[in-house]
Formats: sequence, structure tokens, C-alpha cells
Amino acid sequence: MSAVDLGALAADIAREAGELALRRRTAGYALAATKSTLADIVTEADREVEQLIRERLRSERPGDGFLGEETGAERGTSGLTWVVDPIDGTVNYAYGIAAYSVSIAVVEGEPHPEEWQGVASAVSAPMLGELFTAVRGEGAWLGDQRLTVTSETPAGALLGTGFGYDPATHDGDLVMVRRVMTMARDLRRMGSAAIDLSYVAAGRLDGFFERGLNAWDFAAGALLVQEAGGFVSRLELDMPRPMVIAGGSAVHDRLRSIISGEA
Ligand code: IPD
Repeated sequence: MSAVDLGALAADIAREAGELALRRRTAGYALAATKSTLADIVTEADREVEQLIRERLRSERPGDGFLGEETGAERGTSGLTWVVDPIDGTVNYAYGIAAYSVSIAVVEGEPHPEEWQGVASAVSAPMLGELFTAVRGEGAWLGDQRLTVTSETPAGALLGTGFGYDPATHDGDLVMVRRVMTMARDLRRMGSAAIDLSYVAAGRLDGFFERGLNAWDFAAGALLVQEAGGFVSRLELDMPRPMVIAGGSAVHDRLRSIISGEA
């Protein structure tokens, strides 16, 4: 299957999974469990949506690996792995805020973000009625509109960020926000890293930074940003999981130097 075909499959599954998430949310949801903190709500819908994605991939791409938020990792034999967040922005989902998404990426290489290369991805935001797609070498798209990151930020950069659900990380995050505000015109915390990255690709945000993200939160969005002409990097700081930084070239570089303490 070509990268374009893989992209079409990712988009098709993301669309179907998004519709299921939306239907389940409309019908009411049952709280299934809590993870590391109270705020990290996992719904029945989260599991059901991942199940749908996994089953479709099992029948259409049986040799591929899988890495999903809810059901974990399974190595494949084809060299491709599907990296899936069934509902990115579960807290928004639980509260009925529209900014949640299904995030699906297919990547090539060892199933670790430092080593893989994105091949195709899709981010579906069903309550917003938007589907973002990217294929390596073919660009990033919102429907039939080709996406490009911003390049000029004369009034300062409109930045997105997020905070991990572990309260122990909040102080560090707030210190970082204070530093980064020196280059910002304003800051958005929308609650779905996949949507934040899609918005960077679409030029709706100039840049994004968040530490502690899991691979399934950013795999699809990272390819969108890159295919929209932007840059995504990860910075190891004195923290358990690295900081993800994204933006057009100038904003990405400036964010990176502020966050690393060079500026
Ligand atoms: C979360 C969202 C949120 C980010 C958190 C993530 P989840 O993903 O992407 O924006 O700030 O760090 O964990 O848990 O809702 O899939």
C-alpha cells in the first residue's frame, strides 16, 4: 500500500472513529475508570473507539504494529506501526467541550518516537466537524485546503500549550509559561495536543509546546506540522518525558532556545 493509500485509510478510520465518539458522547457517557489523577478521566467511549480502530486495522493491515493509549503496544512484521489516541482531550470530552479528537498516525521504523518516521496521519475533531490529514511528501490538508504554518509573527506568537494531568508537574509548567510569554501575543490551552498541532499546521496557532506528552498524543499532529512546512522537535530537560516543541521555523527555534534556557 502506498503512503497515499495509508493516508486514505487513516482518514477513513479517523472519520468513522470520530463519528462513534460523537454518537457515544451525545448518548451520554459512563465513567469507566480514573488513571493517574482524578482529572484523567477515561470513558467507556475511549475504549470502544480504540477497539473499533484496532479491529479495522487488524482486518485491513494485519501485519502492522499497533501502539494505542488504551490497549498498549503490539509489534508487527511489516515495519509500520499505527499510533493511536482514540480520544485526545478526554477531559474536554467528559465536560462536553468540542475540542477533542481522534488521532491516528502510521509510522515507519522502530516503534519509538525518536526512531520512527511518520508516513501518514489523520486527526478528526468530530464535534468541530474537521478532519486534518497528512501524507509524507504530499502535504497537510484540511479537506481540500492545503495547510501551511505561519511565518510572520510581528505582534508576537499565538502559542498553544498543555499541562500534564499530574499535579506534581504544574509548578514546572507554570515557570515555563512565564518564560515563554516573553515571545507570545497570547496563549491557548485547548485540551487536545492533537488539535493544537493541527492548528499549528493550519496557521491558527504560531507554535506549540508541552512537556510530558505521550507518543499517541503527538504522532499524528507532528506529521501535520512537518507537512505544512513547520518543525517539530523534542527537548530532553530534567524531566521524565521530553518537551515537544512545534512551529514555523522562526517560532520553533525561538521557543526551543527559550525553553532550553539559552535565551
Ligand atoms: C491529553 C491532551 C491534553 C494534554 C495532555 C494529554 P488525553 O491527552 O492531549 O491536551 O495537555 O497532556 O494527556 O489524555 O486526553 O488523550
